[in-house]
Amino acid sequence: MISKETIDEIYSAAQIEEVVADFVPLKRRGQNWVGVCPFHNDKNPSMYVSPRLGIFNCFVCHTGGNAVNFVMKHEQISYPEALRYLAKKYGINIVEDARSEDLTDEEKLKESLLAVNKFAEQYFIDQLLNTEEGQTVGLSYFKERGFTQQTIEKFKLGYCPDGWDKFTQEALKNGYQLEHLIMTGLTKKSESGKVFDFYRGRVIFPIYDKLGKPVGFGGRILKKDEKTSKYFNSPESPIYHKSNVLYGFYNAQRAIKSQDNVYLVEGYTDVLSMVQAGIENVVATSGTAFPDGQIRLLKSKTNNVTVLRDGDRAGINAALKDINILLGNGFNVSVVMLPDGEDPDSFAQGHRDSEITDYLHDNADSFILFKAKVMAAEAGNDPAKRAAMVKDIIQSIALIQDDITRQLYIKELAKLFGIEEKMLTVELRKNIVKTLKESAKKESGQEVEIHTPAEEKISSNDNSFDENEALYQIEKKVILLILKYGAYEIDAELDEEDGQTKCQLVRLDQYIFNEFSEEEISFRDPLFQKIFEDYAIIASKAQNQDEIKKAFVNHENTGIQQFAIENLLGDEIEISPEWLRRFEVSTDNVNNSIYKLNEEVYKTVLMFKFQLIEQYLHLLKEEMHQDHSDKIIDQILAKYDLLIKRRAEIAKLMELVVAK
Ligand code: UTP
Ligand code: MN
Repeated sequence: MISKETIDEIYSAAQIEEVVADFVPLKRRGQNWVGVCPFHNDKNPSMYVSPRLGIFNCFVCHTGGNAVNFVMKHEQISYPEALRYLAKKYGINIVEDARSEDLTDEEKLKESLLAVNKFAEQYFIDQLLNTEEGQTVGLSYFKERGFTQQTIEKFKLGYCPDGWDKFTQEALKNGYQLEHLIMTGLTKKSESGKVFDFYRGRVIFPIYDKLGKPVGFGGRILKKDEKTSKYFNSPESPIYHKSNVLYGFYNAQRAIKSQDNVYLVEGYTDVLSMVQAGIENVVATSGTAFPDGQIRLLKSKTNNVTVLRDGDRAGINAALKDINILLGNGFNVSVVMLPDGEDPDSFAQGHRDSEITDYLHDNADSFILFKAKVMAAEAGNDPAKRAAMVKDIIQSIALIQDDITRQLYIKELAKLFGIEEKMLTVELRKNIVKTLKESAKKESGQEVEIHTPAEEKISSNDNSFDENEALYQIEKKVILLILKYGAYEIDAELDEEDGQTKCQLVRLDQYIFNEFSEEEISFRDPLFQKIFEDYAIIASKAQNQDEIKKAFVNHENTGIQQFAIENLLGDEIEISPEWLRRFEVSTDNVNNSIYKLNEEVYKTVLMFKFQLIEQYLHLLKEEMHQDHSDKIIDQILAKYDLLIKRRAEIAKLMELVVAK
């Protein structure tokens, strides 16, 4: 466990703008910095970074948090891993508290399994390079396949000796437990209870997670043998989740980031040969259909993928499937077809580096062109088949979430087939609605009505919904006024003891609290009510407005924290620092901003009261329709009358404020 002191040191050293800027280019905007959000597919700078509050927030996808949160999310790593990263960046020495006692059983097990894998990794390397069997059988196999010493070392390839249980015995001798050996899949137990090496007589490809830990192994058989699989792979275990791992990712991530593109190939040997040919932004998907974990890994580095499958019918079919999944996950997708009968491994081994680079460059088709080429060959000049082909391509385009990108592809398609863009757009809309319906149905398990924007406008004339929404918005406004300007002073008319009113300077939060307690108002939204209740305590301890904001953006209640992060930066009304010294400086400009804030507070509080009364009236109206006794009905009517009068008073005050 990292000590509390170290954690504090890391938090105070980490400058949010420096941490983010290591991953995303930032531009200054006023007090804040802005950049393109890495957590969703975007081209505009929607992510704000506030050095003052120590947080970032995206106003489109609502991802936000502090420096540690950013590193965790961006690099897809755990809390301690993010702390270690920041400690390294800021040269902070990590002090650990009493270690393993603090680990949970689950964490202890993972550490044990990882220790087993690390031992195995070294053992297999040693066998390959330093034993006679390893050299003559394993190493010579790799050399025959054209892998250089450098590649073998880079990917830490190894060899598991033939026989029965040589590896297992060695591991047991070194103190590793049989139970752990079995959980990692390195050792198997036969039905008769005899243990044996799963990978015996195979060359080994260690599989690393994104932090470079050996979480699993692939093993390839050397002799041709029909009875057993060409490749063995580790089973799922507490440290190995296939859906979170991409072979080659650990080595490739820098190149993927700098090239802003990743080549997706099938397997181990494809990655090795491509990297050996100097193309480093390559990962293998190993026959999986892009589970979420893999998508997140790729997304953390780039939005652009190039699918590179075998040059045969199976490869084409695989690429067609990949395209739709990847588009649906917000990637820009290109495809490179290899010459018939080649896979990336054989192609890379059979050509000079420059030829490979040129081929990849010259043959990268947009997914539209790729689909068109594949299907045009099949459709020939048959008009019905060609129409089906266009529809099929539109179905893929409909999977793209970004409007502008979608329209660009429609343009490309229109040009390619000489069809009117408008006609394609009609077909596209149909498909989008269909896809939305399908995904909504999947989520809710029932049929759902999806409205296009035009239909939405008509059906939203639902009154009760509007009122609820209005109340929510005004409640939010009140909350934001105190969170943003609570400690500022405004001119307020206060009732004196002698019945007179007097204009006086009061803190904005004080003013709102007074108004609330006088009329016994509370917030309908529970989150706002909780913020309001916590506010008084927080504000009493805070020295200034920034400290209030900081307390809320770091609030222990994640709902409140999220709300604060989303709302407390980026869109502040600019109030200059002179504002606070307004008695000394009295320019028009400054007066103007004081006046604006005053007005804003009055209006907001009045509107809030007005909204509450509206809500109350609404409820009373509903009560009138119930079967109540005459006595109750009288009470309701009396209350109704009172509220109508109060509403009129407030309306008058509102007019005054507006007329001022
Ligand atoms: P290949 O069948 O081409 O493997 O599959 P290879 O080792 O290159 O064999 P030969 O020499 O061409 O016959 C390409 C990739 O697909 C994965 C491996 O990652 C391999 O690198 N694969 C293949 C498996 O995972 N399991 C298999 O059974 C076959
Ligand atoms: Mn092959």
